[in-house]
Amino acid sequence: MRVLGIETSCDETGVAVYDSEQGMLAHALHSQVELHAEYGGVVPELASRDHVRKLLPLVRQLFQDAGIEASSLDGVAYTAGPGLVGALLVGASVGRSMAWAWGVPAIAVHHMEGHLLAPMLEPDPPAFPFIAMLVSGGHTQLVEVEGIGRYRLLGDTLDDAAGEAFDKTAKLLGLPYPGGPELAKLAERGDPDRYKFPRPMTDRPGLDFSFSGLKTFALNTIQQAERQEGGSLSDTTRADIARAFEEAVVDTLLIKCRRAVRQCAIKRLVLAGGVSANQRLRQRIDSMMEGEAGTAYYPRPKFCTDNGAMIAYAGCQHLLAGESEALRFTVRSRWPMDELGEGVSDPGL
Ligand code: KG4
Ligand code: ZN
Repeated sequence: MRVLGIETSCDETGVAVYDSEQGMLAHALHSQVELHAEYGGVVPELASRDHVRKLLPLVRQLFQDAGIEASSLDGVAYTAGPGLVGALLVGASVGRSMAWAWGVPAIAVHHMEGHLLAPMLEPDPPAFPFIAMLVSGGHTQLVEVEGIGRYRLLGDTLDDAAGEAFDKTAKLLGLPYPGGPELAKLAERGDPDRYKFPRPMTDRPGLDFSFSGLKTFALNTIQQAERQEGGSLSDTTRADIARAFEEAVVDTLLIKCRRAVRQCAIKRLVLAGGVSANQRLRQRIDSMMEGEAGTAYYPRPKFCTDNGAMIAYAGCQHLLAGESEALRFTVRSRWPMDELGEGVSDPGL
């Protein structure tokens, strides 16, 4: 089965063709980073308009790269949520319409399911069951994955997501959007011992997270250092604060992952979502899983952040299982993963 995947939930237009026999045939991505950079964050209406401009040319380029015609497709998968409603509507309406025009089924994909299945595109994918930690700009979740579509939420963030905390702290440090990778780069030069940030919610049982306090702690640390340094921070201090913040997030995520792995007695851990591109997190998780006599799995870095490949793959699995959408489609800005399987379209149509 050959499926076109479309991702437009936030600030990247991503498309890909996945073939269940031949694997990933091609993928293409247009990032809106430059468009939003001057505003310091994603402007939803600008995001939607840019998806409108870029999606069809990107699909044309994709078919050229893959050397295929639309007539060879067996289905179209599009991200239906969670995400920015206007942005989602672009991918969903274009995807649903193309499927209708080509006479093939369409399938709505949950963005986070796409992320958690992204390691399946690697040469040595994890077997089921596995634990997945989804760490992106909007989510921080621990999920027990028994199989495609069988997900049990183990833990969630009570406030900010890990990526959001990275982005907000980066902004406080005067780094450009998107802050996560910039903060990680700055942290490389930082001294891990100069500042000590808390590890929120690790001293009590459970698998939930809370990152908003860490951002406040960063703000207080920055303000105090500014007073000590006479107004503006030295590069060394900025790097040391970035490092302390990164250490705290990485430690917190690691402690909760280890707890989930032990609690479920499952030795395979998947890390996915934008923050899983973080090198320090990967190194620390790798050695933690070695200590647990288990294995950690990650998507390749470019499939950690938003992309069309993960949507094409997830959609293909659902189409192979015989699922598809009616002609009417819906998108959802919020969409709890445990509601997956209840569908997003009206089966009566
Ligand atoms: O999965 P993603 O592309 O979009 C969402 O679904 O949210 O994740 C984006 C998030 C942003 O918060 C970004 O700052 C963060 O992932 N991120 C990183 C790194 N690369 C991306 N955070 C820390 N270290 C990185 N290397
Ligand atoms: Zn994402």
